[in-house]
Amino acid sequence: MVGTPRTLQNPFAPRTGPVRGSAVVSDTFRAAQARSDEIEQQMADDPASLRMLTGDRPTGALHIGHYFGSIRNRLRLQDSGAEIWQLIADYQVITDRDVAGDIAGNVRNLLLDNIAAGLDPEKATIFTHSSVPALNQLMLPFLSLVSVAELQRNPTVKDEAKSAGITSIGGLLLTYPVHQAADILFCKANVVPVGRDQLPHLEQTRVVARRFNDRYAPVFPEPGALLSEAPLILGTDGTKMSKSKGNVVELRMTADETAKKLKGAKTDSDRVITYDPEQRPEVANLLTLIALCEGVEPAAVAEEIGDGGGGALKGRLTEAINAELAPLRARRTELEADPGYLQDVLRRGNERANEVAEATLDEVRAAMGMVYL
Ligand code: TRP
Repeated sequence: MVGTPRTLQNPFAPRTGPVRGSAVVSDTFRAAQARSDEIEQQMADDPASLRMLTGDRPTGALHIGHYFGSIRNRLRLQDSGAEIWQLIADYQVITDRDVAGDIAGNVRNLLLDNIAAGLDPEKATIFTHSSVPALNQLMLPFLSLVSVAELQRNPTVKDEAKSAGITSIGGLLLTYPVHQAADILFCKANVVPVGRDQLPHLEQTRVVARRFNDRYAPVFPEPGALLSEAPLILGTDGTKMSKSKGNVVELRMTADETAKKLKGAKTDSDRVITYDPEQRPEVANLLTLIALCEGVEPAAVAEEIGDGGGGALKGRLTEAINAELAPLRARRTELEADPGYLQDVLRRGNERANEVAEATLDEVRAAMGMVYL
């Protein structure tokens, strides 16, 4: 984007001070937040100047963490009139596992979840990156622009390796943030709605774009993150949401399945419900979810429930979530009945992605002097 500050040090330069200290991390975060605020403004003033790309890994169905963290922002961008690119990041599935599982089924789930949530295939290009050879080829010049040391510093990659129990990091796990840069830059997206965990990847993308432009010719924008205003949502057990822990409410669950899942949600022994994120994180998380669904303040919800206790809290949450997701779930059922339509959406999306990726790769080759005939 034009006129955005350059906040990252060149990782190839010798270190002169602490690189990892929290001050540096929060500086980077502050800069990202400032860019996010600028994008908000742009959405109001000049939405046609925004091109959004975001992606999901097809590892299962989307859940309410995705919904409040990212999907709502996608839809806001779509409704503002921004150009929308929605990636199903199938190659990313094999970054932290050997087998992709039922990848076709999961791709279908992502199509269903996104379209049911309101993503409009007439406005959005929905595609799988394994179907777009020219996108993947961008990874070659991009890899030449990054150092192994900076790849090894990526905190999200380290976390993923840790939670997957990986001790020997594979080549793709180490380099997939560069592949993600290709995801974003092939269509010259300038806005990426993501959660905080994706910020290191977005910084990497900005660095790749900047170094390519400096070394060859100005081809790529430096995209900014659109950060969700929703606070971090925890799983029903109060720990980080994760499908493998069974602590998520999936968008596609039935109302009964949702009620059952929330009945088992962790609270604490204090009967009176108060909003205290520090001392009572599990209760605060459930209150936050109600607040997000109902568009009210969590503390006000706590006051209303008062000594109704955990039972009343969960009852109200179940109602709020089921009401919020009911239209989505109804659309999902309709879409499921029409597999030909889903295939058509993906076919058209992949065609368009290929056209744009080939045009960008042509520009890249020209910038690099690799045009011979
Ligand atoms: N890494 C993202 C995730 O795990 C998925 C993703 C792949 C993505 N490519 C992207 C997100 C490009 C934003 C932009 O959820």
